[in-house]
Amino acid sequence: MEGYESFKTKIYQFTGINLSSYKERQMKRRIESLISRNKFSGYESYFSELKKNKDLLEEFINYLTINVSEFRRNPQQWDVLEKDIMPSILQKSKKPKIWSAACSTGEEPYTLVMLMNKFMPLSEIEIHATDIDSGALEKADIGMYNEKATKNLPPDDVKRFFLRNGDFYQIKKEVKDQVKFKKHNLLEDKYPDNCDLIICRNVMIYFTEDTKSVMYHKFHDALKPGGVLFVGSTEQIIMPNRYKLTPLKTFFYQKK
Ligand SMILES: C[S@@+](CC[C@H](N)C(=O)[O-])C[C@H]1O[C@@H](n2cnc3c(N)ncnc32)[C@H](O)[C@@H]1O
Repeated sequence: MEGYESFKTKIYQFTGINLSSYKERQMKRRIESLISRNKFSGYESYFSELKKNKDLLEEFINYLTINVSEFRRNPQQWDVLEKDIMPSILQKSKKPKIWSAACSTGEEPYTLVMLMNKFMPLSEIEIHATDIDSGALEKADIGMYNEKATKNLPPDDVKRFFLRNGDFYQIKKEVKDQVKFKKHNLLEDKYPDNCDLIICRNVMIYFTEDTKSVMYHKFHDALKPGGVLFVGSTEQIIMPNRYKLTPLKTFFYQKK
């Protein structure tokens, strides 16, 4: 399909999303299937309608951002966080600053609250959670999940932190209150600073190598010395030393 280059420019001007930072083949394939599904002839006519039609724009952003998530995704890695990494973070900071970047519909930051509650009272926990997709953040705020999303959680945690509502699981208010959700674009917006732990999982895979490299530098700057970056299971950093990060355990990197 012709016209992707100028579509990228127009989308950037219109939404602030820079499609050039995402792997092109994958992104083009997704957008083109959306264009055909909506019966547009090409990029140009699709964009003209996107500008006018809020639902279409929302569908576009939703489709683009792939919000798949689950509680305690890749449980073995969360076990490492709980048993090895968190105790050493807590030795340095009594109230660690934790950022769940690209948190999607909330499963990741809520998992963090449950994990931290093994070490401290709920009221002392504060998780910063961000995503580019306001639709995902709204769902996170509603906090209603199906059974599949909770499959990796210990049954005791499901009982303690959720209210059963028919086929759904509602995250309890006391968990929700400990998470501050905010819209944030990892490619454009300022990163927080002084973080003890940053969790950024299952989003880097969508970005080009150049973009990843810029982001690893920014994550480095966002961490305290000794702070830890936790990445997704297919997202190991090649030569982390380039970013002044030291491998601690597989999928965990420490700022020197
Ligand atoms: C597959 S989900 C990952 C959710 C969670 N971190 C996990 O591992 O289960 C990817 C998320 O990245 C978000 N995302 C994509 N591009 C982004 C960007 N430029 N800035 C912030 N978030 C972004 C999407 O909206 C989506 O919610």
